[in-house]
Amino acid sequence: APTHTYRIAAIPADGVGPEVLASARAVLDALAADSHGAFAFDWEEFPWGCGHFERTGRMMDEDGLERLREFDAICFGAVGWPTVPDHVSLWGLRLRICQSFDQWANVRPVRFLPGVRSPLRAADAHALDWVVVRENSEGEYAGLGGRNFAGRGPGGEVAVQSALFTERGCERVMRFAFELARTRSRRKVSSVTKSNAQQYGMVLWDEVFARVAADYPDVETESVLVDAMSAKFVLRPWELSVVVASNLNADILSDLGSALAGSLGLAPSANLNPERRFPSMFEPVHGSAPDIAGRGWANPIGAVGSAAMMLEHLGLPAEAARVERAIAAVTAAGVLTRDLGGTAGTAEVTRALVDSLGG
Ligand code: NAI
Ligand code: MG
Repeated sequence: APTHTYRIAAIPADGVGPEVLASARAVLDALAADSHGAFAFDWEEFPWGCGHFERTGRMMDEDGLERLREFDAICFGAVGWPTVPDHVSLWGLRLRICQSFDQWANVRPVRFLPGVRSPLRAADAHALDWVVVRENSEGEYAGLGGRNFAGRGPGGEVAVQSALFTERGCERVMRFAFELARTRSRRKVSSVTKSNAQQYGMVLWDEVFARVAADYPDVETESVLVDAMSAKFVLRPWELSVVVASNLNADILSDLGSALAGSLGLAPSANLNPERRFPSMFEPVHGSAPDIAGRGWANPIGAVGSAAMMLEHLGLPAEAARVERAIAAVTAAGVLTRDLGGTAGTAEVTRALVDSLGG
């Protein structure tokens, strides 16, 4: 059979982004080399990020989106560096790609791995594993608002930051969450809002959730306020399966989830355009970690787990499962980076992952 070549755009960007993305590429290339010609990855790397901004005044090239459009998928590292304001770097690259390519479903699994100590006592007694589905196209990150109304100057400034909720935007991410719940052993969707205080957008969210839920009588549901949900993540996490939430709330909850699983460095994510009109983008949940960048300490498991999600998306589920097994084998063997209390560097974990792919 002819080799199927997947065209992948790599955007390592800033801080530990290049370090963890190199690890994900090494694992993907090892899989391809071992596929006996069944598939290959054709990589193109884009040097965008804060360094590019300092050189050119732009986070990505002007024709960047057009060029990215041609790829089968995008592997992203992390964006952000102290020399560029965070809102400029995030909006100029990651949010630009997610929103322009209508990657409206951000899937963020929370996985507890063998050999990794969780700060949760319950993690020893229960099999914990849930998924945060983040609405990724609107909500609190719609970019709506402004500053300096009516010429108010320093000391009297006013800023407005509005959240946008559309019935269509809510409904599609909720249906996605319900379909995902149907693939899991526990068929349950928890919807998260703060609709007691935010009486317009989040009440609309609640109403759409109730309507969509009626189409999935086989799936258990609950609606939980975000403050209560953050407590529930810690105190009753075994009750969770799929958690669907708005852009900001899910962003916060997924950092909490990955910390509970042991480290921010472990958490993978997929920014999906489920209709496949545009390429989807795969990235670890964490940021550019300037505090440890350049030392070779970054935990690559979040990035490698994101690569596994890409394999799944590209129609290579058996290869995705191989990567998942390799991750669990490496953590079980105690090959852990410093964020997990170990001593291994990024390169050592990467080698161990590649060596474990056969198992
Ligand atoms: P962060 O996720 O970069 O770091 C938070 C903490 O987690 C740090 O102590 C860091 O050392 C640790 N950490 C993160 N990834 C790790 C890894 N792979 N291995 C070991 N430890 C790891 O979040 P922070 O510090 O709030 O933001 C830093 C920069 O990243 C900012 O410029 C921010 O805007 C940006 N950022 C970018 C994101 C993205 O590209 N998707 C997401 C979140 C933040
Ligand atoms: Mg985040």
